[in-house]
Amino acid sequence: MPRPIIIDTDPGTDDAVAILLALAAPEVEVMGLVAVAGNLPLAMTERNARSVLELAGRPEIPVYAGCPRPMSPGLVAAVHVHGEGGLGQLELPPPRAVLARGHGVDFLIETLREAAPRSVKVCVLGPLTNIATALVKAPEIAGRMAELVVMGGASYALGNTTPAAEFNMHADPFAAALVFDSSAPITMIPLDLTHQVLSTPERIERVRALGNRCGEAAAMLMEPPPARRGRGRRPTYALHDPCVIAYLLAPELFEGGEVNVAIETQSPLTLGMTVVDWRGISGRRPNARVMTRIDADGFYTLLTERLAGLP
Ligand code: BDR
Ligand code: CA
Repeated sequence: MPRPIIIDTDPGTDDAVAILLALAAPEVEVMGLVAVAGNLPLAMTERNARSVLELAGRPEIPVYAGCPRPMSPGLVAAVHVHGEGGLGQLELPPPRAVLARGHGVDFLIETLREAAPRSVKVCVLGPLTNIATALVKAPEIAGRMAELVVMGGASYALGNTTPAAEFNMHADPFAAALVFDSSAPITMIPLDLTHQVLSTPERIERVRALGNRCGEAAAMLMEPPPARRGRGRRPTYALHDPCVIAYLLAPELFEGGEVNVAIETQSPLTLGMTVVDWRGISGRRPNARVMTRIDADGFYTLLTERLAGLP
């Protein structure tokens, strides 16, 4: 039986690869996508989500619009990484499927309430605004998720948006703090891990060589963003968000441990920093499983094999 999942996302090049991987995997059933403002404004992330589903021939999967702005003051975006359209070099036709009726936060709450307890896994690939809002509105859903797998934060690694903070955490630190304080069964996939999963030209070529339209699209999405080019080294791109889906499909590729994670919400210098207490010196109880290592070749083998099954 495929495991039901919900993907909360801000596509986003790497989000789009993650969505394709989930659609290609018989181990999971995507119940719906919930878009959030993050890499781009909400109107673009929800549109890109619908376009990616249509590319994969799955327009029947509902896409809900979630929150159009973070809980925290200020609005950040990552157009310099994902391009003006949000999908890098990939241009997709405007989607024909319309947005699902209702708010994405209500979809999250209602789906978790109606499903068997601890049957649904929630994947968060963007700022944590939607899931935090859902937890404010319906705190009991923390205990109804099978797992909440979040791409975000950094453990020993430095930030990628500020010296201290990773993008998804920095984009809405109040939301992130609320989620990590919620007692939801969190697995965190930080930059320490995703920076091991680099899209080298050889890996991109293997995906392009699949010869299907989704493989061609994924190869374009895996290309390094313009901001990375011309910096001397051979450019690569860390496929952050697909690691969340790969973790669901092949947890044996991952290593990590249970630990307390707290989110900085006050200091302008370190806003959104994930403070990971590996030494257990804070006295705070573990609230997350933090993954730190991945078999990167195993990840790319999985990604390539699964994408081969798409149109
Ligand atoms: C995260 O930030 C976004 O730009 C990516 O889509 C990913 O979710 C990586 O820091
Ligand atoms: Ca993302």
